[in-house]
Amino acid sequence: MPARRIAPVAVLAALLAGCGDADSGAPIVPPKDAGAPPELARPLGAAVNAKAAREDDAYLRAFASTFTSMTPENEMKWSLVHPKRDSYDFADADALVGLAQATGKRVRGHTLVWDQQLPRWITRQDWKRDELRRVLTGHVREVVSHFKGRVAQWDVVNEPLQPSGRAKRDVFTRMLGREYIALAFRAARAADPRAKLFLNENGSEFPGPKQDALVALVTDLRRRGVPIDGVGLQDHTVAGKAPDAARLRATMRRFTRLGLAVEITELDVAVPRSGSLAVQARDYAASTGACRDEPGCTGVTVWGVTDKWSWIGAGNRALPFDEQARPKPALEAIRRTLSR
Ligand code: XIL
Repeated sequence: MPARRIAPVAVLAALLAGCGDADSGAPIVPPKDAGAPPELARPLGAAVNAKAAREDDAYLRAFASTFTSMTPENEMKWSLVHPKRDSYDFADADALVGLAQATGKRVRGHTLVWDQQLPRWITRQDWKRDELRRVLTGHVREVVSHFKGRVAQWDVVNEPLQPSGRAKRDVFTRMLGREYIALAFRAARAADPRAKLFLNENGSEFPGPKQDALVALVTDLRRRGVPIDGVGLQDHTVAGKAPDAARLRATMRRFTRLGLAVEITELDVAVPRSGSLAVQARDYAASTGACRDEPGCTGVTVWGVTDKWSWIGAGNRALPFDEQARPKPALEAIRRTLSR
């Protein structure tokens, strides 16, 4: 009897549905009455995660009414979007891009190739060079094509360097050498010629071996005609130890001189227990002010929205909104700096 055959399938489906986040993939609907952000001198972005946006109305509201650009915090990373060799899952990334479109935000795609948040099928395999080359370019092509016309900028390669400035020894470098970077950029350009392509790096705001290595790396890419448009400076920092505006502008100029754009892509300012929110506000103003004053700086993105969901924990008070999504002095400082 058909009814008997269907029943176990229905039970299995119900069990499977219960395993994951029930809302996963569902559209994220912006609050209708959230005000629009004021006009700003530069795009002001936030990293948004789908779980927080679905569960926390105050978070979603703060995002929608403050920011003009959006970076998915995790949802476009390899392990989430391409969990198995032969299957992609764009559900949560699509939901975030849908939210951005519905609220008129620019989208920064993050990130195509990184040594972290990789699925096991990539890190475990004993690859042959040609095979890994095909997998890498196939991944980039698939993801960029999926979002073609909806993503303004991609972090094509993320954090390729060690603090010493040497290349990381990840699966891509081991098998393909530095050539993996050029491969990824070329595949991204081919898949969406209008998207701006960035190389994103951390710990390069101050002078030193890592900054020098980053300049050398992108100089070499440009010289060889690799299609790179910009450099992302993450700018994860600590109140009182953050680079001031002059320092950041000097760093930015090392890249803009080469004809590249720069963005601050992951700004947050951790406040030590004894630290003050006024110092944090000053440091936020320094970073946003540097971008406003530097012609080649095309935007500033904050890595999160409210302290409650910050990737470094609420205790670090690193973001412009507090745990209850109330604005902090940092938000006022950002607004003042970017107002026009
Ligand atoms: C972080 C996310 O914020 C976390 O939720 C996740 O668990 C780990 O990754 N540099 C990057 C970002 O380029 O992708 C990282 O995001 C933070 C550091």
